[in-house]
Amino acid sequence: MKILVCPDADTAAGRAADLVAARLRHDPATTLGLATGGTMEAVYAALIARHAAGDCSFAAAQSFNLDEYVGLAPDHPCSYWRYMREHLFGRVDFAPDRTHLPRGDAPDAGAEADRYEAAIRAAGDIGLQLLGIGANGHIGFNEPTSSLASLTRVKTLARSTRAANARFFDRAEDVPRLAITMGIATILRADEVVLLAVGAGKADAVARMIEGPVSAFCPASALQMHRHATVIVDEAAAARLALRDYYADIHPNGI
Ligand code: PGA
Repeated sequence: MKILVCPDADTAAGRAADLVAARLRHDPATTLGLATGGTMEAVYAALIARHAAGDCSFAAAQSFNLDEYVGLAPDHPCSYWRYMREHLFGRVDFAPDRTHLPRGDAPDAGAEADRYEAAIRAAGDIGLQLLGIGANGHIGFNEPTSSLASLTRVKTLARSTRAANARFFDRAEDVPRLAITMGIATILRADEVVLLAVGAGKADAVARMIEGPVSAFCPASALQMHRHATVIVDEAAAARLALRDYYADIHPNGI
């Protein structure tokens, strides 16, 4: 794992955007794995700015998002499809038919998960996968005790995840209980993985991911098995890393 400890959250998001832009320049037809959530908003803002500056283009790329809530149609205000359209797809030059999310409103969510996994494989798997991390160590919606060999499937959300995401819904009870998520093995097949975590609320999960045992109890710890994983954190999210100074010696200021 490459650990980049950045001075603040904005710098950390910019570093993640730099890696995506570099991938697009190196391989314009790359398949991006995309994430949602509060942390990613700054990454997408930085990518929109780089795109506007002529620094990167999504025109030849395609994308697969990590997950979607079961029961939410693409036009639902809280769907991840809607989030992606607002925060990225509608503001850069992605071809609409080359951006993919699971259909939350599919009549058979299990069959939709299988279809989505097959579509990722048919695309040749993910080139660069962007990830956030839950305070409970989840990646995508792979909650603690998810099989490290899991593929795209339906998962029941943890109470803490529903509570954390309630801020995006009118009422806490509106947060769906189920989601379709790429599995941990699906994520590990990506050529390159970039995980971004900022803020003190992620410090414990970050320490368990990087320095704890590889365990289904902390799904993000599976990234220890990946050959090309970069973890970008701000100082607050790095606060519980035993070897923080070592990582900073290797990459001063996250550079
Ligand atoms: P957040 O979500 O960026 O909203 O904290 C991250 C995640 O749950 O993966």
